[in-house]
Amino acid sequence: MIHETLTPFPKQFLWGAASAAYQVEGAWNEDGKGLSNWDVFVRIPGKTFKGTNGDVAVDHYHRYKEDVQLMKEAGLKAYRFSVAWARIFPNGKGEVNEKGLQFYDNLIDELIANGIEPILTIYHWDLPQALQEEYGGWESRQIIEDFTNYCITLYKRYGDRVKYWVTLNEQNVFTSHGYKLKLHPPGVSDDRLFYQVNHHANLANARAIVEFRKYVPDGKIGPSFAYSPAYPFSPKPEDILAAENAEEFNAHWWMDVYAWGEYPKATWNYLEKKGIAPQLEPGDLELLKAGKPDFMGVNYYQTTTFEKNPLDGVTESGHFNNTGQKGTSSDRGIPGLFKTIRNPYLETTNWDWTIDPTGLRIGLRRITNRYKLPILITENGLGEYDKVEEDGSINDDYRIQYISTHIQAIQEAITDGVDVMGYCIWSFTDLLSWLNGFQKRYGIVYVNQDEEGGKDLRRMKKKSFYWYKQVIESNGEKL
Ligand code: BG6
Repeated sequence: MIHETLTPFPKQFLWGAASAAYQVEGAWNEDGKGLSNWDVFVRIPGKTFKGTNGDVAVDHYHRYKEDVQLMKEAGLKAYRFSVAWARIFPNGKGEVNEKGLQFYDNLIDELIANGIEPILTIYHWDLPQALQEEYGGWESRQIIEDFTNYCITLYKRYGDRVKYWVTLNEQNVFTSHGYKLKLHPPGVSDDRLFYQVNHHANLANARAIVEFRKYVPDGKIGPSFAYSPAYPFSPKPEDILAAENAEEFNAHWWMDVYAWGEYPKATWNYLEKKGIAPQLEPGDLELLKAGKPDFMGVNYYQTTTFEKNPLDGVTESGHFNNTGQKGTSSDRGIPGLFKTIRNPYLETTNWDWTIDPTGLRIGLRRITNRYKLPILITENGLGEYDKVEEDGSINDDYRIQYISTHIQAIQEAITDGVDVMGYCIWSFTDLLSWLNGFQKRYGIVYVNQDEEGGKDLRRMKKKSFYWYKQVIESNGEKL
């Protein structure tokens, strides 16, 4: 559809920015915080780029007031942040740490005082290490009880002021990277366990939503899904089927459960035949159906193109580009289902991520047609090298180009009829990119921090900061 005119963004559109506790806060062992799985994982040699960790990150824990002032100056309507579970419950359960609760009280109050709507992510990957050690974290159904208790603690404390909540950030990423690809903690590769862990996360997500209705009846809640819409490489039917397989395996496997409480059929049958389908217990499917979200949170960065993969074809153990050397990632796949292939029509970043604003529009429409839910874009942005000029300016025109074309695609999707509640750029300040150190920058505010550390962490507004401010002021009219 090519529209002659575009529908304006809704008046209440949440123009925002997002972050995650481990990537910005630092203060990893302060004020009673317990250890998280990431605090431990990053200390294993070779796991992250140049061994970077979030001990200091960008020190948001101590500088949140300064950061909120910058958000106010940019005109942000919303800020999405996550709570570090181990700040609230140092051991994941049991005794609550009042100082941890207080930190987020302060942050939330500061945001509200400055006219910024808080969007709280309950879980953005930093699991209390104590739970990993006690029962394997997500590997055990015990996690559901402890996660629910943690959620209720947050609902009771912040539910009066926080109206937008995200349950799990990118469940598809933390389960697959943790239990298939060995890239995230606990660094395991076990297909059966991966599907079981994921099932527990589904149950925890559903329980969190069911409980939410009791404590924050006027709030809205949903998961954030890392959606990379699948394209077929060619019009060959076998490539189209490969893309369908990928869409079902990589997207419907999660979003169908969130929206409908059902696992998609072909994937379920495939896993059952292999003996790796998750084990269900009585009541599981009822719980999944009961935990209906108010919106689908979408983290969108790129699309992926697929072609047929024979039974003796490539596996998932390809090379990932975590160095920023363009062209170093390799294709991956599941034999008999699909394999990735470079899309010759799309540019890529230095980390080999495709740049595809139309893919965002396509993804938004697919979600709308399939699930009929409003969508909150909880992340979208460009990770790139930035250069500070001698006069202190940072001219990140490439980031402006990326974000503006994606916002335009959102407006086109809105004109198509998609209900988009808001848009959070990833990220506000630069932050630690889990596996890629600090050189892969996402912020519209530069932070003087690098892999060696010891820098003064000062904040500097990039060109994209001023640009985004004007986008917000004009409610998306001036791109
Ligand atoms: C998402 C995560 O996967 O993408 C963020 O929710 C992450 O936490 C972002 O930082 C960008 O990924 P990366 O690997 O480039 O930092």
